[in-house]
Amino acid sequence: MNTEFKPPMQLLPKETYTDQAWFERERRELFDRSWTYACTEQAIVNPGDFHCFRFMDHSLFVVRGADGVIRAFHNICRHRGCEVLEGSGNTAEGITCPYHRWTYQLGGELRSVTNEDECFEVVTKASLGLNSAAVGTYRGMVFVNPSPDPKDGFDSWIANMDDFAWPHRFDDESISYIGEMVYEMHCNWKVFYENAIDGYHLGYLHDKTLGKLYPSKNVWKPVGRNVVWYSIERGGEPQSNSILSAEIADDSGAPRLPGHEQAFYPGVVMLFPLTILSPSPWGFYVSKLEPVSPEITHMRVYSWAPTGSRGRMNVERPDGPVRLSDLKGHPLDSGNFQIEDMWICEKIQRNLRSPNYKFGPLADGAGAEAPLMHFQESVLDYVPIDGS
Ligand code: FES
Ligand SMILES: [Fe+2]
Repeated sequence: MNTEFKPPMQLLPKETYTDQAWFERERRELFDRSWTYACTEQAIVNPGDFHCFRFMDHSLFVVRGADGVIRAFHNICRHRGCEVLEGSGNTAEGITCPYHRWTYQLGGELRSVTNEDECFEVVTKASLGLNSAAVGTYRGMVFVNPSPDPKDGFDSWIANMDDFAWPHRFDDESISYIGEMVYEMHCNWKVFYENAIDGYHLGYLHDKTLGKLYPSKNVWKPVGRNVVWYSIERGGEPQSNSILSAEIADDSGAPRLPGHEQAFYPGVVMLFPLTILSPSPWGFYVSKLEPVSPEITHMRVYSWAPTGSRGRMNVERPDGPVRLSDLKGHPLDSGNFQIEDMWICEKIQRNLRSPNYKFGPLADGAGAEAPLMHFQESVLDYVPIDGS
């Protein structure tokens, strides 16, 4: 049954889910070298178009050059460290720091220094260009890595994903951007990630939202460090959604994208370590985990829906983050599997500090808990236990 994953064992000690020193090691040894979603290529179509974003400690931006090439830089002026750009927009004439107005080319080179002769004996412009970050594009999405020379190059990180491709496009007006939501989860980022790749819980915790997705009815497939998920409830080709979730979405009146009557593509794509893509007949979601501290994780979800529709997210969109403490009813009555997951993850996190907490056996199977060890191997590859 489980041919693609090894029989799973818990590899990470429980302290790695609560400990501040371990979290700092993850920050430096993993996240500082990790790929993260920045924006769609559509958002920066023209020369000079830019988009700024934060990732952990990093202030970054992507910009399209006059040559059409997308580049990524740390948003840090080489003079005194001011952010040179903010938000998104167009800066085709070049980049001007708002503080003392040093200017940079779109390729990052330092172009001019105000009052250079009067104020500076010598400024070696060639060595004061903006610091580069690594950048890559995949199926209309732009990903950035704060390290200019990442441990996993972009092509190897996203290796073989084409075998699991989805048909959604950002450049043909079939889907439109709806907006973003932030969930504030009181758990370690790995507790959430491991829950997200745990096929064993689906048919039980989510029986009212996802249905009978028992271990033989769903499957994860490893793709390098990443994993992709399918429902195999219907027999025939694996599909992106469960029977019950499809019924709920269709009954809610959410329209399907034309041509998505069947959805023979993955429903969840976990891009190690912090990005989750969710293609579906009702839209497309990009979720970014933002580890805030060892026991707080934000998840920022960007959503797209068929053009002209509102999408199927059945949580009211509050102004601020979604928190369990703000819910009116019980999480199990929310009708929302994300809320159900948050509830469980917080219940686990509260127990991780107990001296009585011990990991039990993991359920074997590609539709059970085998992907957890696959994930933990990658964490340890970046942050070895004996490397502190
Ligand atoms: S900090 Fe940018 S010009 Fe001084
Ligand atoms: Fe779940």
